[in-house]
Amino acid sequence: MFLFFFGRDQVLSKLELTMVFKKEGVLFEKVYEEEKFVIIDFPRIPDFEKLISQLGGTVRIAKVYYGAEKLSEEFVDKLDFYFPKNFNYAVEGINLTVDEVNEVEGYIKKAIRQYKSKGVQKHATLSIVVPSNYFSWKLEEGFELFVLKIKNKYFFAQTLECTNPRQYEYKDNKRPVQKLTRGTSFRLAQMMVNCLDLGKGRTLVDPFCGIGTFLIEGMIAGYNVIGIDNEEEMIQASLRNIEWARKEFGLSTSYKLFTQNAQEAQFEADGCVFEPFMGPFMTKLPNKQRAIKVMQRLEELYLEVFENLNRSLKKFAPVVCVLPYLETQDGDIIQLSSRFFKGIKFDIASMYEHFQINNPIDYDTPAGSRIRRRIYLFKKQ
Ligand SMILES: C[S@@+](CC[C@H](N)C(=O)[O-])C[C@H]1O[C@@H](n2cnc3c(N)ncnc32)[C@H](O)[C@@H]1O
Repeated sequence: MFLFFFGRDQVLSKLELTMVFKKEGVLFEKVYEEEKFVIIDFPRIPDFEKLISQLGGTVRIAKVYYGAEKLSEEFVDKLDFYFPKNFNYAVEGINLTVDEVNEVEGYIKKAIRQYKSKGVQKHATLSIVVPSNYFSWKLEEGFELFVLKIKNKYFFAQTLECTNPRQYEYKDNKRPVQKLTRGTSFRLAQMMVNCLDLGKGRTLVDPFCGIGTFLIEGMIAGYNVIGIDNEEEMIQASLRNIEWARKEFGLSTSYKLFTQNAQEAQFEADGCVFEPFMGPFMTKLPNKQRAIKVMQRLEELYLEVFENLNRSLKKFAPVVCVLPYLETQDGDIIQLSSRFFKGIKFDIASMYEHFQINNPIDYDTPAGSRIRRRIYLFKKQ
């Protein structure tokens, strides 16, 4: 059994996991799920090193190697570790009390004394180690242990893979054009591209491509991509960023870019992913009247864009997109109307046989932003 532990956006991460398994042909069986993690069995063990770099939302993959009704030192003997002279380690209790974590810690310290080793405990608590510390503490050379309490039983899991935060920092900081106020994060883009129910080698379109984040993640995931933006400057930025990514990551799929309105551009694609224009920049929460006005304008734009997608996408094409809603000064929520959802000729997809996932999915709004975001999965009728 294997533990997949999620970072911030847990619902999206769960969905991403199932979709990546589907695309990679990984057969699996769900053993148990909570908000923050799932436990999974595989008839054939997949490539975990590859999976951790493919999954934007999974921060750890760990092997559940032992289960017991009571805490005792047996879990230390069964650990896949030989206690060298020097090493660092961390313990993470999930659904445990602090006393239980301390008890686990005591058994590990006893073993360290027995082996005359100088193991250094870097972390023993109820929270999990942030990925940058995982690497700076060299936990991959020591060990990281998850102790989970599930239905009054203790399960012990040893980390096999930790997400590499540099993977995103590198792309964010090294791409030639960086417009941070407009750009979607690479992590979100990777997760959303992964959630497209679309086989590799097909073509996806981003009708609001900006500086090309979805396009790059799409190409990394093996799709041909089409980018559309109504500003020539953005198209030039996408061009430079894609050319950089092609060399950097050895990407071989094709791309096309057009300076056009998303409502009118002509193209043919099998799937679509985007974060659209989300309305005017707001420094404070709007009053109700203003929020309604902004939403109505956005709704008109999005209706026209979905009309175009209806003309340009193949039948049953998947669309994964961010759509906004607004909170007013008085705490009212102003969102897209039912007229929009009835008008677009796209169904809200529901295809999650394995886990409990609602569509749309709330997405943590970046600090400082007044606009709330939800991620929708649609399927063309
Ligand atoms: C939220 S940004 C997209 C960010 C993009 N995902 C990225 O990573 O850079 C929205 C983009 O839509 C473009 N845009 C606004 N209205 C548009 C329209 N009607 N048609 C096409 N693009 C539009 C803007 O120029 C902007 O680059």
